[in-house]
Amino acid sequence: MNRVLVRDLAQLASPAGHDAPLRGQALGEVDVLEDAFVLCAGETIEAVGRMRDLPPLEGEIVELDGRGLCAVPGLVDCHTHAAFGGDRVDEFSLRAAGASYEELHAAGGGILSTVRATRAAGENGLRAAVERHRDWMRREGTTTFEGKSGYGLDRETELASLRAVREAGGVPTWLGAHAVPPEFADAAAYLDFALAEVLPEAAKLAEAADVFLEQGAFGAAQARRYLEACREAGLALRLHGDQFTEAGAIPLAIELGARSVDHLEATGPEGVRALAASGVVGVLLPASALFLGRPMPPARALVDAGAAIALATDFNPGSAFCESLPLVCSLAATQLRLSPAEALAASTVNAAHVLGRGGRIGRLAAGYRADVTLLDAPDWRYLAYHLGGRAVARVLIGGALP
Ligand code: NIG
Ligand code: FE
Repeated sequence: MNRVLVRDLAQLASPAGHDAPLRGQALGEVDVLEDAFVLCAGETIEAVGRMRDLPPLEGEIVELDGRGLCAVPGLVDCHTHAAFGGDRVDEFSLRAAGASYEELHAAGGGILSTVRATRAAGENGLRAAVERHRDWMRREGTTTFEGKSGYGLDRETELASLRAVREAGGVPTWLGAHAVPPEFADAAAYLDFALAEVLPEAAKLAEAADVFLEQGAFGAAQARRYLEACREAGLALRLHGDQFTEAGAIPLAIELGARSVDHLEATGPEGVRALAASGVVGVLLPASALFLGRPMPPARALVDAGAAIALATDFNPGSAFCESLPLVCSLAATQLRLSPAEALAASTVNAAHVLGRGGRIGRLAAGYRADVTLLDAPDWRYLAYHLGGRAVARVLIGGALP
């Protein structure tokens, strides 16, 4: 078996404990080892520890020099829209000149303009796009990414999107209810089609389903119909909720036992209380709030109330053209008032839980998958401290250099 030793690390940092998701005080607890090593055997971590405790190793071992680097668990991006064609740089310029995201959406731009470009990309074009986006994420330290469909909204392109994510090594989510495409009269007619014609195949390719519950997208009753059908088909449930308005996403997520409700920029005190008392993870996307000039989600209130939270990029061409989890961790510290330790847990072990991989990824500990992000830094807290600079030296995925 191929063994890799990363030696002489300045520090190794991993969320404390064994559970997922972490919440409350445990979210901010991190185990830090100085002058450390990670030993990988095949795809799995065999041991971590301090250099002085490294036992003599027999057999063939590939050694990586960790001097000047810090190891953290491979970052987990649990919310991306990586499967899209084209870009929205023209719209970005219009927004910079004063147009709002909602206005562009209502005028047939926004999500629907990416739907046109994604349909035109074809299966090969989509595959190439997802690989390119995955490689961007890896350069920023992401070793596991979730990728949603939702820019096809026809049978062929939705399924091609899910295949492209899966073939690129990502975790596919069917965002079949992202917008109503122009060939349908209304949301009900579109859902009739999506649930009858797309869900049976999507359920074989995807691990979860997601819906955009918002004024101008899908209402609570439509979201419920979509999610119940998806749950019936064996998919885990996620929701885009409280991005612009509170339209019932949190109660629905709790009632249906969803894995997560994502965005929460508009969540008020009652939503905070309800989410904190539930098993649903709040996925916070501060790069999206920043990119759209929107209020930040009430992260501190959520954590202090005991909610389980995760952090993700929301990487997409319209509301968050950002693939960097280190940048998101930095925003978490400066805008959401989370500590670097809370940001680390939220973008590793808690994000892994959202993807149903809680015991397998998200920690640097024996038995976990050997996904390691090596920070180009003398202290692991540079993950959040370094605002937009080169945070990551390299990653190991399943014990291998990708
Ligand atoms: O999570 N809010 C809905 N969906 C995406 C944005 C999609 C787009 O603008 O293309 C989001 O922000
Ligand atoms: Fe999103």
